[in-house]
Amino acid sequence: MCGIIGIVGHSNENIQQKLLNGLERLEYRGYDSSGIALLQNNSIVRFRAVGKLSNLKKLLDTAIIDGHVGIGHTRWATHGKPTENNAHPMMSKDVAVVHNGIIENHKELRFSLENDGYVFTSETDTEVIAHFLQRELVNGFSPLESMRNCMNAMDGAFAIAAIFVPLGNKIIAARRKSSLAVGFAEKNCTARIEKAAGDASICGNMCVGSDAGTLSGMCHEVAYMEDDDIVEISEDSVVFFDKNLHPVTRKKYKVHQDSDSAKKGEYSHFMLKEIMDQPTAIRKTLLHNKIDASLFTDIERISIVACGTSYYAGMVSKYWFERFLKIPTSVEIASEFRYRDPILEDNTLFISISQSGETLDTLAALEYVRSNSNCKTVGIVNVKNSATDRASDVVFYSEAGIEMGVASTKTYTAQLTLLASLALCKKEFLLQQLQNVPTFCESVLTLSAQIKQLAELISRSSSAIYLGRGTMFPIALEGALKLKEISYIHAEGFAAGEMKHGPIALIDEHVPIVLLCPNNELFEKTASNLQEALARGKNIIVITDVDGEKKMPNEVHKLVLPNVHSAIAPIVYAIPLQLLAYHTATIIGTDVDRPRNLAKSVTVE
Ligand code: M6R
Repeated sequence: MCGIIGIVGHSNENIQQKLLNGLERLEYRGYDSSGIALLQNNSIVRFRAVGKLSNLKKLLDTAIIDGHVGIGHTRWATHGKPTENNAHPMMSKDVAVVHNGIIENHKELRFSLENDGYVFTSETDTEVIAHFLQRELVNGFSPLESMRNCMNAMDGAFAIAAIFVPLGNKIIAARRKSSLAVGFAEKNCTARIEKAAGDASICGNMCVGSDAGTLSGMCHEVAYMEDDDIVEISEDSVVFFDKNLHPVTRKKYKVHQDSDSAKKGEYSHFMLKEIMDQPTAIRKTLLHNKIDASLFTDIERISIVACGTSYYAGMVSKYWFERFLKIPTSVEIASEFRYRDPILEDNTLFISISQSGETLDTLAALEYVRSNSNCKTVGIVNVKNSATDRASDVVFYSEAGIEMGVASTKTYTAQLTLLASLALCKKEFLLQQLQNVPTFCESVLTLSAQIKQLAELISRSSSAIYLGRGTMFPIALEGALKLKEISYIHAEGFAAGEMKHGPIALIDEHVPIVLLCPNNELFEKTASNLQEALARGKNIIVITDVDGEKKMPNEVHKLVLPNVHSAIAPIVYAIPLQLLAYHTATIIGTDVDRPRNLAKSVTVE
């Protein structure tokens, strides 16, 4: 989940600012610390700072750097606390390394290196890479061979970029199970730069980074490294090698720019902008995804795997697939799925849902299915060309654009829209209803000020309970997750009917309860659960619709949404819960877009 970047600049180009720009785009992957290392006058200079990237920038304000080859890192701590010593780049004498992933056998490698006299200054697993590469150099191996030997010695998942003093102005990068993209400058760059009176910005740079989006502003094409690939990057060439150091070719893609999504515009936070963007994201998702029902021909079972918010989207879709397609559906958390020897029957459609397309657990589950079954694999992703996209037989894209806020909002409702399009593909009337969702969402977004008042109530509490039945149950779970993530208030979602089996003990006159109660076929049942809650608690917020409101007791706080068909209601009801979490967090004053301990893309187990 760390972000790594490496840039080979043009002669006389100082790439410090480009590295920082790249790190800014990578900060979504972790912001416990950051650092850069550059080759300068035949040696390596390194700068590291704890906390957000702004701290590194402050440090660099007073530094005089002149380097045109460098690497950078934003950290999401795994091994060792977020301290300066544990911040990347990690160094040995002539080597600096940035790393994303986990070296599972780092303890034994460290032991062997310490025995050989290498002194460790951090608690990280990454430092073994730096010393290992150094030891190989000392043993007479070239930097490329050193990287190969290091790869052969390491277990785990990793993406690495390294600079070596003896290699000069080049970067060597390698990966296994963690994504790494290589960016290409325009061809014949040097000649073009000369013509443009030395302006090195005109044709981009050869570079490497954790994702193609980060590189998009600084190169013209990208290629994705495959498992165990090693790449050597210089100013005007990129050479890929397989694990035996045989040159290989990798397909190049044009880079995709989405500059609008990367700007906050008039909004105070990306999260608010992204909540407000939802009608557009849903419209685009509907427009670009016309589902061919033959996808489900001969399918007897659907197996869905995902993590976090994407998992909750999968949970909602289970209700849809079973009700509207009559196909038995299971939904599972990816990190559980792959370690329990799942039974993969023929004629199962395997769906992995991942906004980033890079979540390691979800990818590993997909890999497991590909290696152990003949199931057709479907990917639901937001990021095109992501690892899930490349590894799935069939891919559907949510068209939400880049999501900058760590908390998923627009990508969640876009995923739900896509899953609804799949599940409703044989139901013409309901597909028509689905087309109305953006308009309903627009109307819900106008309730923001009212939701802010309700958020006052939640912000005064240390915990909150979210309840729903049917499709509203996973929506309640996601509402609770949103609140936890960005306000740090403890929140739990429960199936409303399950309360009496234990969780009801949590209710007292202080704890806020958010109850999702549209006027659907489960209304009476949910209303009974409301009475049970009212008998024991006081701060109850009911989110209902125009018809439901008429049947609500006076003692509750009501938020009234438009009447919508129950098949599409989950998408609409997700939105007030996002706003509730957002306003609560802003009242408390947390860092909404970069909540503590989290990262947008989770690329470790
Ligand atoms: O990129 P993915 O959809 O695979 O990510 C899965 C989860 O890490 C993600 O949904 C996470 O729970 C979000 N922070 C939720 O807001």
